[in-house]
Amino acid sequence: MFTAFVTPLFLLILSNWVRSSPLSSSESQHINWKLGSTSRMQAPISLKMVSTNMTVVDTEIDVTNGWVDPRILGGQLLDFTTRHKGEPLNVIISGRSDPYVLSESGFSTYAKSLGFSSECFGLHYGNIHQANLGDGNERQDEQLLARQYYFTRPGGPVLGTCWESLAGGNHFRAWKQNGTMADSGAWFLGVSKEEHSGKHHMIIPDGYNIGRDFLVAQAVSSPTHWNSIWWQTEVEWVEGLLEPGNDGVNHEIEQDGFVAVLTVTRL
Ligand SMILES: *[C@@H]1O[C@H](CO)[C@@H](O)[C@H](O)[C@H]1NC(C)=O
Ligand SMILES: *[C@@H]1O[C@H](CO)[C@@H](O)[C@H](O)[C@H]1NC(C)=O
Repeated sequence: MFTAFVTPLFLLILSNWVRSSPLSSSESQHINWKLGSTSRMQAPISLKMVSTNMTVVDTEIDVTNGWVDPRILGGQLLDFTTRHKGEPLNVIISGRSDPYVLSESGFSTYAKSLGFSSECFGLHYGNIHQANLGDGNERQDEQLLARQYYFTRPGGPVLGTCWESLAGGNHFRAWKQNGTMADSGAWFLGVSKEEHSGKHHMIIPDGYNIGRDFLVAQAVSSPTHWNSIWWQTEVEWVEGLLEPGNDGVNHEIEQDGFVAVLTVTRL
């Protein structure tokens, strides 16, 4: 919706500029194409707000960082697991990552390169969680649930085991920050490690930190790959987004408040 709004505006500005510029038509074609491919990241999000509500002009959301603090527009870094409790969104896949990884199918493929598969979904009996990423979409149901393959490195994930659903282990839920108010394209993940299913998917003690650290370790240890696609991942640890401790945290499990921001580059 936002893109539909911005693109004609950009084309209008562009065509006015092109008309007043001395460039030949083939040169302006070239510029047109380049601007078109990047206008989504360059467009100031406030454009739309300025035109509809002058009082919120100050709330310019900058998406060029690759992710936006959900709290700015009323979101939070805890998901909504139950009415009053949530699980930490402790990993962000930056919107500056490989565009394929930012798509749903590409992200599933990247997750496989880390030893997680979304195809184990059928074996899972957990609730659907919601999250508010402060992008104008309010609360959204989880868009992806992926679970660890039981056999990971060395040798890479073994296809088709999905044993984790019964044995317990690492898993994550993911939401995409793509609402029109903060369309960074980033994925926000709630990663944790849980007990086996006989224990009703209880998170193990320290299971939020452990789950996050497992995923990050898989991602950054070396280039990862699935089929013939290879990625290199860099991590930046961000403090201050999530309150450390267990206030409002599902199962009252302490977590350290660190969020891992991953930037994934295709090799
Ligand atoms: C503009 O937005 C603010 C904050 O959401 C709201 O309080 C105010 O009533 C709005 N003003 C108009 C003119 O829509
Ligand atoms: C936002 O991302 C989700 C998850 O990939 C997708 O289902 C949804 O259609 C996207 N929304 C827009 C407006 O692109």
